[in-house]
Amino acid sequence: MSYQALFSSLWNDYVNRNPHALKVHDLFEQQGERIINDHVAFRTFNDPRINVDQLAKFFLAYGYEEKGTYEFPVKKLFAKHYEHKNPEAPKIFISELLTEKFSPELQTVVKSCVDKIPSDALRSEKFLTHGTFWQPLSHKVYQDLLAESEYAAWLYAFGFCANHFTVNINAFNRLTEICHVNELLQKNGFKLNASGGLIKGTSRDFLEQSSTMAEEVDVSFAEGKVKIPSCYYEFAKRYALPNGELYTGFVAASADKIFESTDVGMRS
Ligand code: NI
Repeated sequence: MSYQALFSSLWNDYVNRNPHALKVHDLFEQQGERIINDHVAFRTFNDPRINVDQLAKFFLAYGYEEKGTYEFPVKKLFAKHYEHKNPEAPKIFISELLTEKFSPELQTVVKSCVDKIPSDALRSEKFLTHGTFWQPLSHKVYQDLLAESEYAAWLYAFGFCANHFTVNINAFNRLTEICHVNELLQKNGFKLNASGGLIKGTSRDFLEQSSTMAEEVDVSFAEGKVKIPSCYYEFAKRYALPNGELYTGFVAASADKIFESTDVGMRS
């Protein structure tokens, strides 16, 4: 299998879970734009059985290389990004929750979830679209996690899947600024993440980003179905470094705000 086939199965799973992303994608195509992904992001826990390095193996197998590391002290996350030699291959951004920095209760929940993942599950790329291995979900547990970490609650509810795809605005012909993208989306009724402003980062950071707010989807809990925020769609514009090369890294301060695209409390 080529990495292109992996990304198309990730994309199909992602738009199944998040129909709004496909609507945005189609809207860009209607504008005559060619869609290239800047990056695809995944979330996990830092349990050594399924941490960033474990998930990264799927991509290293296709020739991806580790390029940058990022710390998010307030959200208690750590992340790495990976790049492929082909500049049109999406970068990969994988973050993990530093579970030891949370309550013993949260740590117990995470451990019992990870314990339910079959030890051979990571042998197959299907792991990346599998969702949760810890059915049935408890809404009480979800809410307890939510009180400590939005990220932990999201991961408990959705498990393993692409958290977001990100469109590379540099490849666009007409919508060449993030603000053009944002205006088009708002005009078409899509809700954007306004935490820290609609546009995160500036040309001085060499990266500007914006994103939709995650769509609320029905999740089946033991207590019944509940609508909770799922995944979002992101847009990135990169700028050239003084050496003339396009910046390929990430900006922790901006990513910190982008993480909030799945927040429950952000919705109005
Ligand atoms: Ni992102």
